[in-house]
Amino acid sequence: MKVTRLASAAAIASALVLPAALPSAAAPPSDRPLPPGLAKQDTLRWSAADDFYIGTAVAGGGHHVSQSYPAPFFNDQQYREVLASEFSSISAENQMKWEFIHPQRGRYRFAETDAIVEFAQENGQVVRGHTLLWHSQNPEWLEEGDFSDQELRAILKDHITTVVSRYAGQIQQWDVANEIFDSEGTLRTEENIWIRELGPGIIADAFRWAHEADPEAKLFFNDYGVEANNAKSDAYYEVIQKYLAQGVPVHGFAVQGHLSMRYGFPAGLEANLQRFDDLGLETAVTEIDVRMDLPIGADPTAAQLEKQANYYQRALEACLGVEGCNSFTIWGFVDKYSWVPVFFEGQGAATVMWNDFTRKPAYYALQSSLVK
Ligand code: G3I
Repeated sequence: MKVTRLASAAAIASALVLPAALPSAAAPPSDRPLPPGLAKQDTLRWSAADDFYIGTAVAGGGHHVSQSYPAPFFNDQQYREVLASEFSSISAENQMKWEFIHPQRGRYRFAETDAIVEFAQENGQVVRGHTLLWHSQNPEWLEEGDFSDQELRAILKDHITTVVSRYAGQIQQWDVANEIFDSEGTLRTEENIWIRELGPGIIADAFRWAHEADPEAKLFFNDYGVEANNAKSDAYYEVIQKYLAQGVPVHGFAVQGHLSMRYGFPAGLEANLQRFDDLGLETAVTEIDVRMDLPIGADPTAAQLEKQANYYQRALEACLGVEGCNSFTIWGFVDKYSWVPVFFEGQGAATVMWNDFTRKPAYYALQSSLVK
């Protein structure tokens, strides 16, 4: 990456609310037990308190398939080193989704997820499971299949039981149900095959089956656009209270946090997380990135980097301000592997590291909040 970028990043970092001295290997801030062979370093995971998990998605599948680089997790050694040294929680970006892990009926493809879980164990990390019931990234055999309700129900139960029990004890949090509401807070009764064919009751069953398969895992609802107190987050607030009253094993509510600098920072994020915390739930930020307008070939301006750092930091501070929010995951950590430019033409630079893994102001902003 260009020197000019590094210079401006450093300048902006110094203007942010940073501690006088960032933690060094000589003065590690965390007392979390060290996995064998791992040294404490000046990284995000070692800046965080012992009971707070700082995570990232592990690049693979999805948009990566159509890109010109080889699968990052398996082929980019520097990527793997940063993944291990910076993060205490990892999520599969695509590798645990239906189309990937269950490509043919009754035939599972576990290799990539096995590798991710093994990597986490070697590096003293926890894993977030993503996801079991979703309207997107389902395999064709499922979406186009001609199944009776009874068969479909058995297919979902088999999938949840098989996948969750395979990794039982190794997944800290599961996104059981992903994006079940639209932006108006209406259940996706058409798009979501499970809800469309089997009715909304299938959502509670998914939680029950996941809980049977791994009683230790914390089971979450996960969605985007629910950072603020709005129609969509209200819909979750209602349905979760109903499920809790019925004894459905729901343990958490997660906001994804795909933010755009075209809009203001979501108002009242902390208060919104707090109202779910008040229900006795864990909360989490599971997929944050902060995208900006970026003409092709252009570099972010200092002002853009500063604003981006501010969004990341406010999101982290909101989570840190809520007792049961103990997991904060960024959706990829290096710009070159981010999903953002693939989906949003003319936008990018949404992560906390430049393409050469050097740190952007947003990185330092997160670190400064973690070490407090
Ligand atoms: O389905 C088409 C397929 O027909 C085509 O042959 C292929 C060609 O590359 O593309 C396929 O679609 C891809 C899709 O993944 C399915 O694998 C898209 O191009 C690709 O952009 C897409 O990317 C993933 C996206 O989820 C899909 O929804 C991203 O890698 C992944 O980062 C992103 O992650 C989601 C979370 O799971 C849930 N929250 C939102 C978040 C960002 O969208």
